[in-house]
Amino acid sequence: MITTSGLTKVYQSRGREVTALDGVDLHVREGEVYGVIGQSGAGKSSLIRCVNLLERPTTGTVTVDGVDLTALAGRGRRAGKELREARSRIGMVFQHFNLLSSRTVQDNIELPLEILGISGRERSRKAAELLDLVGLADKAKAYPAQLSGGQKQRVGIARALAGDPKVLLSDEATSALDPETTRSILQLLRDLNRELGLTVLLITHEMDVVKAVCDSAALMKNGRIVESGTVAELLATPGSELAGELFPVSGAATGPDHTVVDVTFHGDAATRPVISQLARTYNIDISILGAAMDTVAGRQIGRMRIELPGRYEDNVVPVGFLREQGLQVDIVDEDAEAAADPVTAEDADAELAQLVKDGAQ
Ligand SMILES: Nc1ncnc2c1ncn2[C@@H]1O[C@H](COP(=O)(O)OP(=O)(O)O)[C@@H](O)[C@H]1O
Ligand SMILES: [Mg+2]
Repeated sequence: MITTSGLTKVYQSRGREVTALDGVDLHVREGEVYGVIGQSGAGKSSLIRCVNLLERPTTGTVTVDGVDLTALAGRGRRAGKELREARSRIGMVFQHFNLLSSRTVQDNIELPLEILGISGRERSRKAAELLDLVGLADKAKAYPAQLSGGQKQRVGIARALAGDPKVLLSDEATSALDPETTRSILQLLRDLNRELGLTVLLITHEMDVVKAVCDSAALMKNGRIVESGTVAELLATPGSELAGELFPVSGAATGPDHTVVDVTFHGDAATRPVISQLARTYNIDISILGAAMDTVAGRQIGRMRIELPGRYEDNVVPVGFLREQGLQVDIVDEDAEAAADPVTAEDADAELAQLVKDGAQ
C-alpha cells in the first residue's frame, strides 16, 4: 500500500548538508498498522513527510495505493491538481493536533472538504458522521480550547478521515498525551484500522505504542531502517533489537559454568508444562532468572530466562528438547550473541563506511 524505494532526503541547513534519510526502503501492506520507531533525530518525521510529499524527497520514489507520488510531484506546477487529489486519499495526524483555534470542531473537520470543493450540506453530513465515529458527537459546536488533549486528537483524526483516505499517517500522535489518553487514542486507531480497512503508518519514539497496536515495525537509526518485519517475525528473530525492547527479559547468571537461555512461548505453548518436563526428563535443576507474559500485537506471548547447570556444550540436548517443543530458544552468551547478531555486523559496516566517507572529505 505504501512503498518507498531508495528514499533519501538531504536538507541544506546554513550551508551544511544534513542527511535525514539515507536510502529507505519501506513496504507497508494494505490494512496493517505499521510502526516506525527510533530516537529523536533518526529521520522519522522526514520519512512520513516524504510519504505524502509534504517534503520533496532528494532521490527515490514513493508509491501510495499504486500511485507514484514522486512522479506526480516531478511534473511541475500543472501536476498540482493530481498530486492534491492523491494526497486527499492520505490522512495525516500530528503530535500537536494542528487545529484552527478560531473554528469550531465541526468547522475544523469540514476544512479539508471545503478545500476539495464539497457543498455545505454534504460537508455537515460528513462531519457529523466523523464526529460520531471518533466519539465526539456532542462537541460539534465546541472550540478547540474547550477540549482536552485526547478530544483534540480525536478531532485531528476525524479531520484526517474527511477525504475518505485509504492511508492514515500519524507523526507522534500520542506523544503529547498522558498514558491513559494514549491508550484510548491507540484503541481508536486500531478500531479505524479494523472497521474501515485503513492502512496506518505511525511514527513513534515509544515502544509501548508499537506493542499496543502495530502488526509490523521498523527500527530507524541515522536515516536508515536497520530492522523491520511483522512483530511475530521480529520476536522470532534471534538477536533482534526490536524484539528485545518489545519484550525485555533480564537476569544474570548466578555463576560461571551455567548456561542462560531465553525461552519464548507463543500461543498454546504457553500453557504446556515444558519446564517441569525438561527438569524431569534430564534430571537437571533449572533456575528461573526472569519471566513475563504480555500481549504483543494482540497475541499472548511469554518469555522466560532460565539457567541450566553446566556450559553450553553440556546442554545441547536439553536445549534441543526445548526447540522440539516448538519453543523459540535463544542462548544468552554475550560472545556467541555478538558473533551471531546480523544487525550489529550491519551497523559496524555502516559505521565503517561513514568513517571512510568522512576520511575522504
Ligand atoms: N527542515 C530541516 N532543515 C534542516 N535539517 C532538518 C530539517 N528537518 C529535519 N532536519 C534534520 O534531519 C534529521 C532528522 O530529523 P527528523 O526527521 O525530524 O527526525 P525524527 O522525527 O526522527 O526526530 C535531524 O538531524 C534534523 O535536525
Ligand atoms: Mg519527529
